[in-house]
Amino acid sequence: MLLEGKVAFVTGAGSGIGAAGASRMAAEGARVIVTDKNRETAEAVANQIEADGYQAEAMTVDVTRDDQLLAAIAEIAGRLGRLDILHSHAGIQIEGKLEQVTVDDMDASWQLNVRAHFVASKAALEPMRAQGGGSVIITSSNSGVQYDREMIAYATTKHAVLAMTRQMAADYARENIRFNALCPGFIDTPFNRGFEIQMGGREKLEEYIQESIPMGRWGTVEEIADGIVFLASDRSSFMTGQAFVIDGGECI
Ligand SMILES: NC(=O)c1ccc[n+]([C@@H]2O[C@H](COP(=O)([O-])OP(=O)(O)OC[C@H]3O[C@@H](n4cnc5c(N)ncnc54)[C@H](O)[C@@H]3O)[C@@H](O)[C@H]2O)c1
Repeated sequence: MLLEGKVAFVTGAGSGIGAAGASRMAAEGARVIVTDKNRETAEAVANQIEADGYQAEAMTVDVTRDDQLLAAIAEIAGRLGRLDILHSHAGIQIEGKLEQVTVDDMDASWQLNVRAHFVASKAALEPMRAQGGGSVIITSSNSGVQYDREMIAYATTKHAVLAMTRQMAADYARENIRFNALCPGFIDTPFNRGFEIQMGGREKLEEYIQESIPMGRWGTVEEIADGIVFLASDRSSFMTGQAFVIDGGECI
């Protein structure tokens, strides 16, 4: 198993990619702290992991609440004595171009897509340093390496968090704390509901996926979970500061 004895803390893990990554890391031997702002879904994911015979626990963490995020990471590192993997995943997508996106929308995007990753990374630093290293995975998007249409708040903040990831990677490489950005393309989760509406419904979205993605399909959460395990584990031990794009060729 690739993650035997490791402790992994995941935000936004009650659904979609975060849940799939949490499950896959647990199956590789990690003890996974499944956090979400939604207590019920976090518990359901943690319970399923335990029912499958692996180790997990649920916590309620709203990443827009610095106090909750900092306290949760400190509590886990203190109680379990280590923190090997932080997957800072929760994010928000607000559609629209400049005249449609409000200043409040832009602030909300910044708060989740950049600021919360900054706070989580800050909290993970000390425990990782004390144990001689760790892997921080920050969910950006392939919108962090290309420009979408009518997605100013999302594309801007996803680019910004990639810049922050690279900066942190450069600053902490000597301490063996690796920072990489996970950059998925279209993965069929509830996250795309807003874009579906923007596109004019499910049928239109399906047509768009078929036409615009070189591989002609959605990615699955399992395909992203494989990437998460790779970034979390020593399989990526010489990799830091990278945008790990898994998008069926969309950003080529
Ligand atoms: N699904 C995609 O196509 C796709 C593509 C690229 C990037 N992403 C990124 O993946 C992340 C989420 O995607 P998903 O597909 O897993 O979505 P999802 O909707 O399946 O799950 C998101 C989870 O995050 C939780 N969440 C939302 N706000 C939160 C907050 N403030 N604090 C804690 N938890 C919160 C939700 O309760 C939910 O359980 C985002 O960062 C998004 O930018 C998704």
